[in-house]
Amino acid sequence: MTNHAVKVGIIGSGFAADVHATAFQDLPGEAEVVAVASPDRLQAGHLAARYGIPKVYGEHRQMLREAEIELVTIAAPNFLHAQMTLDCARAGKHVVCEKPLAMTLEEAGEMIDVCRRQGVLLFYAEELFFAPKYVKAKEMADQGAFGKIYQVKQSEKHFGPHADWFWNVEQSGGGALMDLGCHGIAFCYWFLNRAPIRGVYCQMGTHVHGDKTRGEDNSICILEFESGAVGVVENSWARRGGMDDRIEVYGESGVTYADLLMGNALPTYSEHGFGYAVEKAPTTKGWSWPVYEEIWNYGFPQEMRHFARCVRGKETPASTGEDGRIVLEALYAGYASAGQGKKIALPFRPAGVRRPIDLWRGETGAPESAG
Ligand SMILES: NC(=O)c1ccc[n+]([C@@H]2O[C@H](COP(=O)([O-])OP(=O)(O)OC[C@H]3O[C@@H](n4cnc5c(N)ncnc54)[C@H](O)[C@@H]3O)[C@@H](O)[C@H]2O)c1
Repeated sequence: MTNHAVKVGIIGSGFAADVHATAFQDLPGEAEVVAVASPDRLQAGHLAARYGIPKVYGEHRQMLREAEIELVTIAAPNFLHAQMTLDCARAGKHVVCEKPLAMTLEEAGEMIDVCRRQGVLLFYAEELFFAPKYVKAKEMADQGAFGKIYQVKQSEKHFGPHADWFWNVEQSGGGALMDLGCHGIAFCYWFLNRAPIRGVYCQMGTHVHGDKTRGEDNSICILEFESGAVGVVENSWARRGGMDDRIEVYGESGVTYADLLMGNALPTYSEHGFGYAVEKAPTTKGWSWPVYEEIWNYGFPQEMRHFARCVRGKETPASTGEDGRIVLEALYAGYASAGQGKKIALPFRPAGVRRPIDLWRGETGAPESAG
């Protein structure tokens, strides 16, 4: 059996690409990043220099010609995920696609089908399935600690994304629900052992960032599962003070809470400030919550290690394209619920939707200019 480190190519050179490179750096023997592809050659060059990545390409299809690459991670804007996945699969590479899986359910279906036909694995990059604190909560739940679980909540909130394309719904597909709610939906679904989602209610609005986006900057989404359990998914691009990511689990016999970042931080006061506290924190002066081992706390190295081991046949995929498609269907239902002001029953697969947010706002007109 082949046993050498899985050779990895990364598409993109921004925030998520950096996280992927950091994660793989912690996996000697399991995986090794050998190339990066990004139209931003300067940024890609810096990423390569930081992590000792030997090859830099301006176009991902050039990188895909590298025979030694076995696994490609897609860390590019949402609207590019589908085509890039097809390109990787047709080049015979296994694929790790960042969240959300795609802009449309048709794309998601094609991604899954083409990967299957090409005999490559399609992994959905949902790191919360690997976040140590959340994994511990699930282990306890699976051991019966809380009895029958009737409600799970996940929320992720901050003051908005770091890059322009997120604000442009043409490239992102939607706002806070699309960007962050995909984590919460995936989390509730995974935590409840993939019970089918039968209904979605959602409320959303654009409260503070109407000057720069047509996307929602705050959303509350309620998922009804076939098991009778309820998932609550709260997201915001309007919450000040840096990143907040937490869960609550309620069962007939118990409860647990986990705060991924502030709960693993050093409550700190500084008059002068210091280098870095946590993702998206605007300042380190005054009170702050500097987190340690941030990437590990999120589960990124654990996630990438698992994907690399799946490529070697040592583990069975725990986060797949099918998971990503189910999340996308719930996102569709969330936007439609907010648009119609009522609960949406699943299955919910309207055809011809261009971007999930259109189910809330209606077709938002002429394409926005890039960036
Ligand atoms: N799992 C997570 O928690 C998490 C966190 C952040 C971002 N993401 C996801 O990762 C993806 C990228 O987000 P980001 O925050 O890194 O954005 P970013 O803007 O920081 O980086 C995007 C990168 O894609 C590159 N790019 C643009 N067009 C490209 C093309 N045609 N070919 C190759 N590269 C191209 C850009 O040059 C840039 O380097 C998004 O889908 C986002 O949702 C996931």
